[in-house]
Amino acid sequence: MAQKPEIKIILDRDYRLSDIDERIYGSFIEHLGRAVYDGLYQPGNPLSDEMGFRKDVLDMVRELKVPIIRYPGGNFVSGFDWLDSVGPKADRPARLELAWRSLETNQVGIQEFSKWARLADSSVMMAVNLGTRGIPEACALLEYCNHPSGTKYSDLRISHGDKEPYGIKTWCLGNEMDGPWQIGHKTMEEYGRLAEETAKAMKLIDPSIELVSCGSSSKDMPDFPQWEVTTLEHTYDYVDYISLHSYYGNKSGDSLDYLACSDDMDGFIKTVIASCDFVKAKKRGKKDINLSFDEWNVWFHSNEADDDIMQNHPWQQHPTLLEDIYNFEDALVVGLLLITLLNHSDRVKMACLAQLVNVIAPIMTEPNGGKAWRQTIFYPYMHASVYGRGVCLMPSVKVTKHDTATHENVTDVACTAVYNEENKEITVFAVNRLLDSNVDINIDLRSFGNCSIIEHIALEGFDLKAVNSAQGETVVPKNLNTLSMDGGSVLNGALHGASWNVIRIKVEK
Ligand code: AHR
Repeated sequence: MAQKPEIKIILDRDYRLSDIDERIYGSFIEHLGRAVYDGLYQPGNPLSDEMGFRKDVLDMVRELKVPIIRYPGGNFVSGFDWLDSVGPKADRPARLELAWRSLETNQVGIQEFSKWARLADSSVMMAVNLGTRGIPEACALLEYCNHPSGTKYSDLRISHGDKEPYGIKTWCLGNEMDGPWQIGHKTMEEYGRLAEETAKAMKLIDPSIELVSCGSSSKDMPDFPQWEVTTLEHTYDYVDYISLHSYYGNKSGDSLDYLACSDDMDGFIKTVIASCDFVKAKKRGKKDINLSFDEWNVWFHSNEADDDIMQNHPWQQHPTLLEDIYNFEDALVVGLLLITLLNHSDRVKMACLAQLVNVIAPIMTEPNGGKAWRQTIFYPYMHASVYGRGVCLMPSVKVTKHDTATHENVTDVACTAVYNEENKEITVFAVNRLLDSNVDINIDLRSFGNCSIIEHIALEGFDLKAVNSAQGETVVPKNLNTLSMDGGSVLNGALHGASWNVIRIKVEK
């Protein structure tokens, strides 16, 4: 007889995986489609401020508490001349933007985005162009952004009205340089050398910055993980992180299998950690290279429409590109991916949900100045970002498992637990990935003493294909009352089939 689905978790305040770097809840804005123009920026709209930034969008970004935002790309960055995007707006040139075959007006650039990020309470993760540009342009941009004054580019910034440097701490050395689609695509040797020399020069300008070396653009790239090893052999001494990118989608229509895709992310992360540690060992190195999972999300709904626009209707200003409309099962997958990132928070220090507004995004704006609304995936991302601050615990977990079409030994429930010592709160994030069956849950909180349930928030009970829209947000969280705390330290109950759960627990002392 098949075993009843169940999960038993023991949490101990002394079993800690890692302090969570809040930058694990980062996001990404690329000059792509309607992300910047029509998304963040819409001068003339009554919803916008005097700089043209949409206030309703900024409010939603603040709701998500996004600590860091990668900018300006993505594939876009490999053709970007940053000097086009600063100074008086009337003098900025319009350009053919080759990555997305669009028209870039440069009305938003380095200066505007730095100000917007500050309004969003976020910091900037700036990417430099190592596709069509190189060391001098990267150094000039860093000098423009971070050097106080008295040099060509710092004085240029001041002449543009920005006296104070932007103080950007985190920098990406190019984007997906292994991808044949990338403008200025490189072999691993070419990229390794260029990244090494660029990193060396950038750290001479500002030794306080942190640098991200480009990893493979997905685990399915033919050169993965040799790319990681070869490029890090060059960059190890100068960089702090290596990037990982991965997108998921229910292309086969098999939802049970789709909900197992976070196991692929888990395997990807483990292989990159092994590659970083191999290079460290080979170099008799002292430091760990940590991971920046700076592009992750669901992306597949819009693929055909995007191909049509790029092939048949190029050179539009802010075309409708990558506007995936997410359903309930996509929200469950985003929850699962967040759990996976947290369970590697000892090495994954930064991660960016790609992207933030209109382009594969949790926040959408209606075209032509219409309202902003929240996609299904907004909620797990917000819950993790708001409640997932503190220490990631190392739970002991016993859980029943199942197989799917392309995955074996998939846990019926995926979970992680975060302890916020300051607030005396534990939050357990859990996804029941069985489509129709409840899973009994038992959490033993023995070392925490007397505990009580603050609330149990869930996304559950929707059709897997249910979506939100400007007309109405159907897939929204609810509060459940189905869990109990027995004897002050044992939580019991059931997680419903296909559900995202946020179980908030108060530690009494
Ligand atoms: O996020 C969309 C695109 O996906 C990015 O521009 C690129 O880096 C990746 O392939």
